[in-house]
Amino acid sequence: SRVVFSGIQPTGVPHLGNYLGALINWVRLQQDSRPEDELIFSIVGWHALTLPQDPRELSRSRRDALAVLLAIGIDPKRSILFHQDENPHHAELAWLFNCITPVGKLRRMTTWKSRLAVSRNANDESEVDESLLNAGLLTYPVLQAADILAYKATHVPVGDDQKQHLELARDIADTFNRTFKAKSRMFPLPEFVATPTRRVLSLKDPRSKMSKSAPDVQSRILLTDTAAQIKSKIRGAVTDSIVGITYDPVSRPGASNLLTILAACTNEEPEEVAKRYVNKGHGDLKADVVDAVEELLRGPRTEFERIKDETAYITEVARAGAAKARERSRLTMQEVRRRVGLF
Ligand code: TYM
Repeated sequence: SRVVFSGIQPTGVPHLGNYLGALINWVRLQQDSRPEDELIFSIVGWHALTLPQDPRELSRSRRDALAVLLAIGIDPKRSILFHQDENPHHAELAWLFNCITPVGKLRRMTTWKSRLAVSRNANDESEVDESLLNAGLLTYPVLQAADILAYKATHVPVGDDQKQHLELARDIADTFNRTFKAKSRMFPLPEFVATPTRRVLSLKDPRSKMSKSAPDVQSRILLTDTAAQIKSKIRGAVTDSIVGITYDPVSRPGASNLLTILAACTNEEPEEVAKRYVNKGHGDLKADVVDAVEELLRGPRTEFERIKDETAYITEVARAGAAKARERSRLTMQEVRRRVGLF
C-alpha cells in the first residue's frame, strides 16, 4: 500500500504551475487510489515563514489555500487535508533530523544557493553574505523531509523544482535508518511522482519558472483568475519573432511553454500539439491556449467562489484534518523517540 504525502506553501493563491506540476497529480492519485492507500496533503505555513510575510495576508492565504485544494477536488473524507503548523510533530522530527544533517549538504541545495545569489554583500558585490539570511532558509529542506517522513510516506507528487529536496529527504531517511539501526528499517525511501508537465515557465520571463513570488502578476495564472484575466495574461505572454510554431524548449522557451500548457490541457505531447501550428502564428496558438486554460480552470474557480467564504466549513475541515494528521504521526514519533533514546 502507498502513503502519498505532498505540501504547498500558503504564500498566495496557487498558480497554473502548481496545478499542472503537482496538484493535478494529488487529485489523480486520490482518484486512482486503492482503499488501503493513505493520502496526506498539507498547507505548509512554517515553510512560508522563511520569507517575510504580512501576518494578516498569511492568515488569509492559508485559508484560501485550503479552499483551493477543496475546490480542485481534494476530498477531506478520503485524504487527510491539514495545516502543517497545526501538527507539532513535524517540528519535533525536523529538530532530530537537523542533528543528523551536515550543514554542507544544505549549502548545496539550489534553493539556498539562489537565495545567496540575491544576497550580495553591500560593500563587495562579488561577496555573498550568508549573515543576512535566516537559519530557516538553510534548514527548510530538513523540515520538508520531516513533513514527508512523519507519515513514512512512500510517494511524493511534486514539480521538478522540488526534486532535490526530495533527494535530501531520501538521504535523511537513509542516514536515520543506518544511524539508529534496529531489526526493521524505520523509514521508507520516498519516491518522486511526476506529472507530464513538471515545470511551467513564467509568462513574462520564460527562462525562469512560473512562481508565486515574481513581482510581475502578469507572469502567472492563478487558479482563481477570471476568464478575462486568463486571456490578458496569455495574450501578453512573451514569445519570439520566429515565423511558425515549433516545440524547441531551449531556443524558443516562450512558445514551447505555451505548447506545454496546451498539451497538458489536451493530454498530448507538446511535440504532437506543435504539428498543428507549423503554419500558424503565435496569435492562433495563444487563442487556443486561452480557451484550453479557461476550460481547465473553470471548474476549480467556480467551486472556489462557492466555498471561499464558508468559513465554518473550512475551519472544521482544517480542525478535523489536523487531528487525524497528529494521530497518524504520533505513532512515528513514538518509534523515533525510542530509537534515538528519548524515552
Ligand atoms: P511550492 O508551494 O513552491 O509549490 C507547490 C508545488 O507546485 C510545484 N510547482 C511547480 N511545478 C511546475 N512548474 C512550476 N512553475 C511550479 N511551481 C511550483 C512544486 O514543485 C510543488 O510540488 N517546498 C515545497 C512545499 C513542501 C513540500 C513538503 C512538498 C513543504 N514540505 C513535503 C512536498 C512534500 C514548496 O515550496 O512548494
